[in-house]
Amino acid sequence: MYELWFKQILHELDYLCVLLDRGDEARSLHTLKRVLTILKVVVAQIDVLETMTPLEFLSFRARLESGSGFQSFQFRELEYLLGAKDPRALARYPEGSDARKRIERRLAEPTLWDAFLHHLAAQGRAVPKELLERDVTQPIELAPALHPVLTEIYRKDPALSSLLERLVDLDEGFQEWRYRHVKMVERTIGTRIGTGGSEGAAYLRTTLNRPFFPDLWAIRTEL
Ligand code: HEM
Repeated sequence: MYELWFKQILHELDYLCVLLDRGDEARSLHTLKRVLTILKVVVAQIDVLETMTPLEFLSFRARLESGSGFQSFQFRELEYLLGAKDPRALARYPEGSDARKRIERRLAEPTLWDAFLHHLAAQGRAVPKELLERDVTQPIELAPALHPVLTEIYRKDPALSSLLERLVDLDEGFQEWRYRHVKMVERTIGTRIGTGGSEGAAYLRTTLNRPFFPDLWAIRTEL
């Protein structure tokens, strides 16, 4: 069920990139709202899983063998599309496998944030050239030179600033999912290692508080 939702979110975010490319802000907003609604459902479903006690989960955990969230290539695709291009993620999939090819394709493609910056530039906003020409295989990094452009939007363009707010919702929604997932893991398997071979909860905690769009968080202090 989760994989279906991930597939749908991927599909909608790909479409969002196309809409931004076309400069269609109204439909972009609409598509983002759909993604946010799906994400709320995905997070809420964790409540159901948490009704399972640790002993109930352990009774079938052995049967999962090496089955793990690490196998969710769609989640990695989502991370790459959203700008978290960590090359370690790629290494977990056998070379030549379908999953690996899909993630490699995402690595080479621009992220949603790139699509958004190009949209701003197409509107004549002063997006720094190095951001528009950046190596898209690299993760999105904080870019203080972009902040005057973003703060100007917040101050003078309510329509576009609501699109920015929905991107913050998207970012926060993913962080919420990560937080709920790690708490579910802690209460279900404690500090046991993961079936995918990671440190388990300790590893998952390192993925918290890593925003996809760091600039949108940084400018809060500047507004
Ligand atoms: C009680 C149920 C669950 C437990 C105990 C659990 C446990 C874990 C653990 C220990 C990891 C770290 C990787 C590893 O070594 O395996 C992990 C990663 C992951 N799990 Fe779960 N999980 C559960 C349910 C779910 C569900 C329902 C989903 C839905 C999609 C999910 C998706 C993921 C994803 C995408 C990752 C990779 C996260 C990352 O690397 O940032 N997990 N999980």
